[in-house]
Amino acid sequence: MFDKQVYIDRRIELKKKFKTGLILLLGNDESAMNYAGNTYAFRQDSTFLYYFGLDLPNLFGVIDIDENKEILFGYEYSLEDIVWMGHQPKLKELAALIGVDNSEPFDRLEKYLKAKKNKQVKIHFLPTYRGDQTLKLANLIGENPYRLKSKFSKKLIEAVVAQRSIKGEEEVAEIEYAMEIAYQMHTTAMRMAKPDIVERDIAGVIEGISLSLGSGVSFPPIVSKNGQTLHNHFHGNVLKEGDLLVCDAGAESLLHYASDITRTTPVGGKFSYKQREIYEIVLTAQKNAINMIKPGVKHVDVHLTAAKIIAAGLSQIGLMKGDLNAAVKAGAHALFFPHGLGHMMGLDVHDMENLGENFVGYDENTKRSDQFGLAYLRLAKELKPGFVFTCEPGIYFIPELIDQWKAKKKFKNFINYDKVEEYRNFGGIRIEDNILVTQTGYKVLGRPIPKEVADVEAWAKS
Ligand code: GLY
Ligand code: MN
Repeated sequence: MFDKQVYIDRRIELKKKFKTGLILLLGNDESAMNYAGNTYAFRQDSTFLYYFGLDLPNLFGVIDIDENKEILFGYEYSLEDIVWMGHQPKLKELAALIGVDNSEPFDRLEKYLKAKKNKQVKIHFLPTYRGDQTLKLANLIGENPYRLKSKFSKKLIEAVVAQRSIKGEEEVAEIEYAMEIAYQMHTTAMRMAKPDIVERDIAGVIEGISLSLGSGVSFPPIVSKNGQTLHNHFHGNVLKEGDLLVCDAGAESLLHYASDITRTTPVGGKFSYKQREIYEIVLTAQKNAINMIKPGVKHVDVHLTAAKIIAAGLSQIGLMKGDLNAAVKAGAHALFFPHGLGHMMGLDVHDMENLGENFVGYDENTKRSDQFGLAYLRLAKELKPGFVFTCEPGIYFIPELIDQWKAKKKFKNFINYDKVEEYRNFGGIRIEDNILVTQTGYKVLGRPIPKEVADVEAWAKS
């Protein structure tokens, strides 16, 4: 964990946003895989981790604004538990680690909250995303679990998002470490992208790297020759000379800060002429997008700049045509680039997505578009120093999407469908890096992972 003062300061900052009421933060519990005693790897809730720092199950944090009191609720483990689990710190010891003065056994929490409710104290809590937590919270505060959704505290969500969006130096250092793990994962994947290797071989090795150097992967890795499927988690294909391997994978540092990197490697070590052309368009779009990043710029404009560069590049090779500004405005480029340019990243790889994407990536000055493609943009609002997010343009040839648009003659003034047919089995290319907004511009985080054509080819051949 960080020094306890970090957690004390974070809670002080949060408390400043509230004049009255009580904040209840739920830690996660163990999650059963196929029977209760056989669990998935434990993952603490990120907001709990941010304010209460303890990476252990069965804990609840309470911040009582009216009484200016913080309490850690949890279980005191029995001797029988300790026989199986080893020595367990007392709640009081855990609370001391994070500068919290009060600790109470969990079975007092329900009564404690009831008493507060009877005194009309407002209890602020965040949206839940696990069934067991929804039931537990509903039970604790006496609400119907199906109606809990309407009771989450917008004020608390906004306060948490505002605070967690601005990364401190200690957080950036953790992300840089997660990037170093990603460097090892991606350069290994590039070297392994050889004919006759199964995607699973690479996926297993890079996941192993993430576990040996950190806390494991930050999301299920995409290691696929079918990169046109954006979130492709199938790893059963055998790689053949001439395939493009999209590897989209990241790790969590030991304190659970994420990295999220994508590289596309030619299997066998050499891009074909056609692949290289598309690759260079994606790379140019990414570099130009990154160069725009600075405080005050709206991320939706960075996204649209990348889209325009993609449209211009595709028109140069005959896939798009016409007035390209009009094409991008209408959303025609989304046939090839159907996702958003990037998302916030921190303790979650899609940072705070559990609190609601619109709270994280949009604000009163930036509303979400409903246009296909642009609607998927997770971060659109004005950038501020301390934001960390991904920059991940891509070009994909998705046969089902091509067929549907072609049949409808959609954007036929902007898309040359005859030429597109020549690419229908091309697959996809994505290039992704992780960026910090500084006071005056940006910093690409981590040790540079090869992405120039010559460098990727050299690694793939090595
Ligand atoms: N890297 C996968 C994603 O951002 O959705
Ligand atoms: Mn990403």
